Amino acid sequence: MSDRTGIFAGDDPFAIARSWLTEAEKTEINDPNAIALATVDPDGLPNVRMVLLKEIEPDAFVFYTNYESAKGQELSESGKAGFVMHWKSLRRQVRVRGTVTREDGPQADAYYNSRSLKSRLGAWASRQSQPLSSRASLMADVAKITATHGTTPKRPPFWGGFRIAPLEIEFWADGAFRLHDRFVWRRRSIADPWDVDRLNP
Ligand SMILES: Cc1cc2nc3c(=O)[nH]c(=O)nc-3n(C[C@H](O)[C@H](O)[C@H](O)COP(=O)(O)O)c2cc1C
Repeated sequence: MSDRTGIFAGDDPFAIARSWLTEAEKTEINDPNAIALATVDPDGLPNVRMVLLKEIEPDAFVFYTNYESAKGQELSESGKAGFVMHWKSLRRQVRVRGTVTREDGPQADAYYNSRSLKSRLGAWASRQSQPLSSRASLMADVAKITATHGTTPKRPPFWGGFRIAPLEIEFWADGAFRLHDRFVWRRRSIADPWDVDRLNP
């Protein structure tokens, strides 16, 4: 696309996403890698919550969570996800839609092991998205887990990554008079080449 210049330039949408995130790391006050992750339940009712994007790989986006949480179950059921990353400081957003698979191998182990001990034990203790009778009962579970797992807990089998392989990535930047710039990269399947279109704001 001839007029795709400046912050939109390049032939690799993952490189563009990485470079926008790197810019946002300098300007956002908190969590520049926060994404609003959308799933659908079995009735098709959408569900959205924030998670932290941990990797922008050469061809995918990775975040970590509890596989038995609401989102974990919805992702496992549908195999699809969408997310948006929005930076108020840059007035830009990146939107992604695609298919998901689990990252529950050595890469998930390595990320789990890089987290603080409290977070690692917390992942064991929290039955994420299930009802909880009280804060005290959660703290009691953390104490029990600490006693049984010690200081080198293994990654829980119910906790790990999801890898989103995008079929669509849209880059949006604020423009004067609400005439924003939008470029969408689309491919029919993961194996297909990207088509890029400029969209009306
Ligand atoms: C900025 C921010 C980052 C978050 N990052 C994560 C994350 O990386 N993984 C996660 O499981 N939950 C994360 N959470 C909590 C989720 O938003 C959510 O409350 C939780 O995962 C349960 O969602 P669910 O019941 O839809 O599965 C984060 C919340 C905020 C506000």
